[in-house]
Amino acid sequence: MNNSFNNLKINIENSFPFITESDINSIKQETQKCYKDLLNLSGKGNEFLGWLDLPSDITKEEVKSVEETAYYLRRKSDIIIVIGIGGSYLGARAIIEALQHSFKHLQKKGEHSPFVIFAGQNISEDYLSDLMEILEDKKFSVVVISKSGTTTEPAIAFRLLKNLLEKKYGKEVAANKIVAITDKEKGALKKLADKEGYKSFVIPDDVGGRYSVLSAVGLLPIACAGFNVKDFLKGAEEMETALKGKESFDSNPAMQYAAIRNLLYRKGKTTEILTSFTPFLYYFIEWWKQLYGESEGKEGKGIFPAGTIFSTDLHSMGQYIQDGTRNIFETNLWIEKTGKTLTIPDDETNLDELNYIAGKNINFVNEKAMLGTMQAHKDGGVPSITIKLFKLNERNLGGLVYFFEFACAISGYMLGVNPFDQPGVEAYKKNMFKLLGK
Ligand code: PA5
Repeated sequence: MNNSFNNLKINIENSFPFITESDINSIKQETQKCYKDLLNLSGKGNEFLGWLDLPSDITKEEVKSVEETAYYLRRKSDIIIVIGIGGSYLGARAIIEALQHSFKHLQKKGEHSPFVIFAGQNISEDYLSDLMEILEDKKFSVVVISKSGTTTEPAIAFRLLKNLLEKKYGKEVAANKIVAITDKEKGALKKLADKEGYKSFVIPDDVGGRYSVLSAVGLLPIACAGFNVKDFLKGAEEMETALKGKESFDSNPAMQYAAIRNLLYRKGKTTEILTSFTPFLYYFIEWWKQLYGESEGKEGKGIFPAGTIFSTDLHSMGQYIQDGTRNIFETNLWIEKTGKTLTIPDDETNLDELNYIAGKNINFVNEKAMLGTMQAHKDGGVPSITIKLFKLNERNLGGLVYFFEFACAISGYMLGVNPFDQPGVEAYKKNMFKLLGK
């Protein structure tokens, strides 16, 4: 099975012999049923399926408003702070970090090219103090995102930054530097936004946090970072059309990914490591970890989603993956084409003994590392699925986001859980509120 699909290819060769063709044949019907349940809106959690149509349903007016707001904030700010946690944070960060220069913070700053940084994703006194210190003499604005509008972490960060903005500019000007993305009617943030007159965007009722990156939750921060949200949505819409239109297992890579990971899980491979050989995908993997972990980890079930960046983590986690407890499989997110090229230079002395690869591009070496690693892991008892993306750009990332969301829903149904709730997240909050005396 080697499917090419909208710049995305899936290859499951390295899953054999851990699974067999007959295993695959035996799971096709079940997978197709889950696919149908999803599209017929007849599965668990069907009140949260708004994300299924987000790329095609989003209006031109909404996209225009996102772009205009981003343009306005970019002109007014050296720094834009995006406040949010979980699904109100990871998607935007995933796409921005996948696309931006590795050393953006050290590059010569262009005009109207603010840094987009994040807050509200932790309760660290030092992190927030450092942030306040940095912002003291900077022009900044804030995008605050919370669907419930009541989450403690972003609420604390927002209170601090709102105070700082108001102290610097006065209440009225400060209000023009704040954008809220929240529920259309519920929650403290909505109340505050209405009272203070903040520009606001709505998170649709039927879109849960971790499925919301294709709404204003992801689009506004991505546009604030200077990336093309129309292309991002275009890639997602192309993937939406393609996946919804392929009803047979053999032509639908999302069904295949969902099925193979469930087959491996049923054979005792209870941990999936999403790995990539590009550091640009570090936060994309974090986003994926939340998507799959929060969607599937319930009722005592679920594949544990882990992440690595290779070859970096081959020098830390490599030993365990090669040789530790044999309950792991990997999904390798390989990017075929780099954005830039760089050749290894020849050296007269060759003291580092690298001349045998002189003249080769760095990515040539990276690819050989990838091929050697996946073979070694397979030999060591770690099967893998490879997902290849042609290159990192807005359009392909939009497609990849939609692909993983769609596959996650099918996979959750195959596990027999509701992939759209997260009751377990409340447990720590309950204890924390009790300890805080709320
Ligand atoms: O996916 C989810 O639903 C969660 O991760 C939420 O996004 C996260 O808890 C933040 O919630 P909220 O947007 O309500 O502040």
